[in-house]
Amino acid sequence: MIQLKGIVISLFALNFLVTYHFVDWMKDPFLDGKRNDYKYSDQWEAYLESIKKGPHIHKVLNDDNYCDSVKEYRDKFPVILNSEGLPIISDRILYSNFPNWYFVKKILGNFTSLILNNHTDSNSHNVFRTRLPLNITFFYHMTTNYHEGKQIDTQFLCKGQRYNHIPGNFYLDGKDYNALDYREYKSYYQNRQNCWEDFLPKTLILSEYEDCKEFMNDLEENVLKNDIKWVYKKARDSNQGRGVKIVTKDIEKNIIDDYIKNGKCQDGFIAQEYMRKPFLVDGRKFDFRVYMVVASMDPLIVLYHDGFLRLTAAKYEAESNESWRHITNIREAKIYLETSNFTESESSKIIESLDMTFSEFSSYLYSSHNYKHDFFSKHFRPHAKKIMLHLIRMNYNRLLKHPRVFEIFGVDFMMDSEMRLWLIEVNTDPGIAEITKDMGKINIKFLKDLIDIEYSLEYSPIIFDSILKRSNFHMVLDGRVKGYKRYQGIINQECI
Ligand SMILES: *[C@@H]1O[C@H](CO)[C@@H](O)[C@H](O)[C@H]1NC(C)=O
Ligand SMILES: *[C@@H]1O[C@H](CO)[C@@H](O)[C@H](O)[C@H]1NC(C)=O
Ligand SMILES: *[C@@H]1O[C@H](CO)[C@@H](O)[C@H](O)[C@H]1NC(C)=O
Ligand SMILES: *[C@@H]1O[C@H](CO)[C@@H](O)[C@H](O)[C@H]1NC(C)=O
Ligand SMILES: *[C@@H]1O[C@H](CO)[C@@H](O)[C@H](O)[C@H]1NC(C)=O
Repeated sequence: MIQLKGIVISLFALNFLVTYHFVDWMKDPFLDGKRNDYKYSDQWEAYLESIKKGPHIHKVLNDDNYCDSVKEYRDKFPVILNSEGLPIISDRILYSNFPNWYFVKKILGNFTSLILNNHTDSNSHNVFRTRLPLNITFFYHMTTNYHEGKQIDTQFLCKGQRYNHIPGNFYLDGKDYNALDYREYKSYYQNRQNCWEDFLPKTLILSEYEDCKEFMNDLEENVLKNDIKWVYKKARDSNQGRGVKIVTKDIEKNIIDDYIKNGKCQDGFIAQEYMRKPFLVDGRKFDFRVYMVVASMDPLIVLYHDGFLRLTAAKYEAESNESWRHITNIREAKIYLETSNFTESESSKIIESLDMTFSEFSSYLYSSHNYKHDFFSKHFRPHAKKIMLHLIRMNYNRLLKHPRVFEIFGVDFMMDSEMRLWLIEVNTDPGIAEITKDMGKINIKFLKDLIDIEYSLEYSPIIFDSILKRSNFHMVLDGRVKGYKRYQGIINQECI
């Protein structure tokens, strides 16, 4: 017996040593670190399947010789770099199907050459089926699945061109995918409590039988209580507050009636536990919008960038059925303003107060809560970055590891009254807007620096670090570095 125990113990010890060694040599079960393998990945197969469905964007003809022609063109007319090592403006030829009136397009227009106004303006009907010009060095598309219509490496996205979407991006964007991934990933930590802290509110995927049943049982049990316990969300395409409902008594009744009628929950929805005690700013609810940029898939480079706070227009009341007291978005704010009797100047004041910069929030914490620490550098960013690392590890093998793709994810966090951060959602289509002047300023610098970063990765990888340094981006994961150091100390070594 004792002997047996001895064996067990030594096996355990050996196992521990092996694991430790393993980690030290950079092996991470979620990031296999293999390079140039994108054509052998599941995501490549899925992407090839998607091409068969045909082009989504009919304005451009697919040309099987496009990348060969681009190469010939570039042999004759190489991209000219400025003294810093970045392409000069006339070689920053950016093709974008964002309509021209979008703020994004206005920013881009200031430091790239947007030459393709006619067939990139989705509002213009005089659009011809043209071929892609050979001088493009950047694709910046509003359509998050633009690649599905074209064959990467032959019909589009040739050497020297970068593209702002990663095939497989929908796995992060989909609330149902995210919830499933999260459960699976969390189980990896089940015997290491010191390495794990929940960051996603309990989420039920209502197209799943068991989850639907749990949801219905919960609604039934609490039918007499007035508390708001759940948020009901469309699982896909519900960015920027679209398709989000607070489960008030009225909504609850609709959901139950629907269930009784159909014998199942509505497909394509999730229910997420509602945070009853949010941290408030002057009595108003808010969330943090920050950016996670996967700047490169090969090598894997993940960056964090500050954003801003977005506030509700009206004060929070936990029991209220008025969604604008719960949901922070401009649409809700407008409904609130329309149903109230504000003067024009009062309304514009409220609109201007819908977001807050990080430094304003720090001042607020100091003046209203006597909070003396540096909230963002000591608390918010370390937690936000750690959550981003987990998100990437959860999804890495589902993203196409192509060397010329990147993606901007808008990541929303809420903070409870104990100052703990919770992930609310990840968006592949973050509205880079100028709802207020401050928001505009942050977004201009963000996008300008990001375009430089992407150009440096394509044309002058050697200057990438100096470009990063003069920006406001923070490194989250640096796949150029071997071993544990690639994580920038964000998670403990034994927690990989
Ligand atoms: C573009 O540049 C002009 C001139 O420098 C500046 O006034 C304007 O605010 C810029 N617009 C954006 C959206 O960056
Ligand atoms: C776009 O098309 C219109 C009508 O064909 C033409 O008048 C205009 O010059 C074009 N604009 C650009 C930027 O090519
Ligand atoms: C890029 O190519 C297009 C189409 O051939 C052409 O109209 C445009 O003038 C070119 N732009 C530059 C800056 O060379
Ligand atoms: C809130 O509930 C009251 C009472 O049931 C109802 O009259 C009102 O229309 C509801 N408001 C909203 C925004 O649903
Ligand atoms: C708004 O003001 C108008 C005119 O002063 C008044 O008739 C109306 O009752 C007010 N509505 C609300 C919701 O206070």
